[in-house]
Formats: sequence, C-alpha cells, structure tokens
Amino acid sequence: NNLTVTERIAATGLIPVVVMDDAGRAVDTAKAMAAGGVDIMEITLRTPAGLAAIEKTAAACPDILVGGGTVLSLEKCKEAISRGAAFIVSPGFDPVIVEYCLKNNVSVFPGCVTPTEITMALNKGLSVVKFFPANVYGGIKAIKALSGPFPHVKFIPTGGIDLNNLAEYSIPQVLAVGGGWLCDRMAINDGDYSLVTKICAQSVEIIKQ
Ligand code: 3PG
Repeated sequence: NNLTVTERIAATGLIPVVVMDDAGRAVDTAKAMAAGGVDIMEITLRTPAGLAAIEKTAAACPDILVGGGTVLSLEKCKEAISRGAAFIVSPGFDPVIVEYCLKNNVSVFPGCVTPTEITMALNKGLSVVKFFPANVYGGIKAIKALSGPFPHVKFIPTGGIDLNNLAEYSIPQVLAVGGGWLCDRMAINDGDYSLVTKICAQSVEIIKQ
C-alpha cells in the first residue's frame, strides 16, 4: 500500500517488541499477530536470532511491516536494513544511526525522554520518538507535560505497558504504543501462537476505543 511507515504505525496503533530465540518461529509469529490485527513487528537485535528473524519475516510476509529494534550501533543498523527492516528503533538517541537512516530514507524512532533529547531529535528533522521506559519516565503524565513545549512531537511509549494500562495511552500525542506484552516470548517458544493472536486482538480492541 501507499502509506508511509509512520502512517502505517499510526493506523495500527501498536508496535510489538518481538524477542526471537529461534528465527524459525518468526513467520508463524508474524502470522499469529496479523491474525489478531497487528501487522507490525519490531524484531529486536538483542538475541542472535534477531537478524535472521527480520530477514525471514520480511521475505515471507510482504503485508507485515517489519522493523529492527534495540539497534545500538551503525553496524547493526546497516545489517538490519540489509536484511529487510523497513524501520529502525533504538532505546536511546544516537545521531549516527539517525543520520544514516535519514540519508537512506529509512524511518527511525530513537528513544527520547528528556526535553534535551527531544530537541536533538527535532533538530535532525524527526517528529516521532520512542518514549522508553515509559512507565519509569512518567508515563502519560510526562508525555502530556512534554507536549506543552513540543506540541508537534508524537510519542511511541514503550516499557511496562500491558493489557491493564494500555487504555491510558490512547491520547492524541501517542502515535502508537509499543511493548513486549503483544508477543509473549515464552508463548512463542512454546508454540502457543493462539495466545499471541488473542493478546493482539484484545489490544486492538482497547486501542480502537
Ligand atoms: C523495548 O525494548 O522496547 C522494551 O524491552 C519493551 O519493554 P516491555 O517488554 O516492558 O514492553
């Protein structure tokens, strides 16, 4: 479709943070999430299987928007993109990663929680940042306060969010809500894909309200 990456993320409203221990389970995981209405995956590079999982999913599931997460170096950023990542997420702000992505037309969402970090992102031309760890850095209260001086910034709060507090984050300043609860690591490793589908569907219901 013709939507930009940011528009697609906004349309779904959710970004599952996916930690794969076995890249062979990536495609089934992607299908399970899509069946629950979540057609986006941020596959983290924090496990050795991450890069292969990105590659397999991007190749097999053209309807799913696959990105790379926990990107902590330019080298890993390049690798994730070469394996098919359509967007890059990092827990903090690294100007080198941001500049590389912008130069190569890859959407990038760095973690920014302070006014200084948000200013650095703005000055690179970004208007969407990850807000991590959301529960520790003040959650929705902090996002609302930051929106005073930064009214055009959209946030992707991530960290400590689950079915119990997801509803709090449905405010205009939030582009989408991210988190691991959407893709339970143990459920995947147990092959319990129906649980993943169920949690995604429940989350979509909450975010739509
Ligand atoms: C991330 O990298 O975004 C976090 O590990 C996600 O945190 P969560 O598991 O608490 O959602």
